[in-house]
Amino acid sequence: MKISVIGTGYVGLVTGTCLSEIGYQVICLDIDEEKITRLKEGIIPIYEPQLKELVIKNQEAGRLSFTTSYAEAINDSAVVFIAVGTPAREDGHADLSYVFQAAESIAQEMKDYKVIVDKSTVPVGTGEKVKSIIQKHYSGSFDVVSCPEFLREGSAIEDFMKPDRIVVGAQSTKAVDIMFDIFKPIETEKISTNLASAELIKYASNAFLATKISFINEISNICDLVGANVGEVAYGMGLDQRIGSSFLRAGVGYGGSCFPKDVSALKQMAGHNGYDFKLLKAVIEVNNDQRAVVIKKAKEALKSLKGKNIGILGLAFKDNTDDVRESAAIDIINLLQKEKAQITAYDPIATKNAEKLISGIEFSDSAYAACHDKDLVIIATEWPDFKELDWEKIKDKMRNPCVVDGRNLLDQNKMREIGFQYLSIGR
Ligand code: UGA
Repeated sequence: MKISVIGTGYVGLVTGTCLSEIGYQVICLDIDEEKITRLKEGIIPIYEPQLKELVIKNQEAGRLSFTTSYAEAINDSAVVFIAVGTPAREDGHADLSYVFQAAESIAQEMKDYKVIVDKSTVPVGTGEKVKSIIQKHYSGSFDVVSCPEFLREGSAIEDFMKPDRIVVGAQSTKAVDIMFDIFKPIETEKISTNLASAELIKYASNAFLATKISFINEISNICDLVGANVGEVAYGMGLDQRIGSSFLRAGVGYGGSCFPKDVSALKQMAGHNGYDFKLLKAVIEVNNDQRAVVIKKAKEALKSLKGKNIGILGLAFKDNTDDVRESAAIDIINLLQKEKAQITAYDPIATKNAEKLISGIEFSDSAYAACHDKDLVIIATEWPDFKELDWEKIKDKMRNPCVVDGRNLLDQNKMREIGFQYLSIGR
């Protein structure tokens, strides 16, 4: 079966590559010619473990190809995945123009029955709109399906190949059968729902995970007030299987291209339908405030931050990615700049992307150099590499041995034994 994937961003490239790895003939389309030229040469626009190897392997095997031509992509494909971006507009609504443009371009090339699959995260009702756009250009039969993606950056291939579930929202059993057939080689629970439910499952899942994070962050703030340890509290809570232990790591709050955008889009979507989603308003507010907790702790340690030399470890929104979109580290740097601190930052792989977003700070190419001669070091991203650093050596090189660990990454007893003034979140 030939499958096409429209859009070679995170979701599109991973979907296309993994489907070709499963054994399908996949053609990926992007309107960005330079991106496609580079992909043909095996140059990947994002950092994602295993992705480059799989793109090269499947291209060489002749199962994966890239194009900028809709005619070439759509021709002979039984199933077309739409996986283009849905960035947040200023008002919080998802910008669907790329999805609608893709639907129109697909429709203009359609000559026979196809399943058009929405993989992009789209508000409820988008599937119906895509359907009506296609109907304007094509009078034959077709199906529109919603098949939300639940992959995480940094473990995208694993998440695609071994998902917790596959959701197919459709209006015909023919389309459900085709989709279940495509995913047959992937062993997991597969459910079929109506279009709107599938679209909402994606938003509800991300919003729930974001809620867990904001919840544990509020608990961490209470821990600071009453002398409890949020690590112990989260562990004790997580043992209850109804709660679960994941996504209960307190810290500087969530970031990335998904949670902030999707939580605010769901809140807007609710409002649009006359419903005030109070809980999500609080989730967003708590998340924004959590950035400032680190600044408050830094001030506790140094009194004023004006003119102080501060090292930042981590720029990515989480470990294992070079993505800095909505990264807490960037927000923390902006807050420190307002306090007139002098900043040196280090990240194992995200510096290039961060340089496009921040100016007036120094970027260092080693964690040790970023900590050298500093009054304070802040850990802003949960890179496991930072645990492996020689903290005794760092202490000897700092002007004032003080660490604010915004990710509760390090062992607090060990850090204090070494001689650090060590502050973390809720412990
Ligand atoms: C998230 C979801 O986890 C995926 O299931 C979903 O498919 C994806 O969004 C998407 O919609 O495309 P991702 O943004 O890659 O994936 O990253 P996560 O691992 O979920 O982390 C999001 C943020 O939450 C990061 O800033 C991370 O540091 C933070 N986080 C995560 C915490 O602060 N505490 C935790 O316990 C877990």
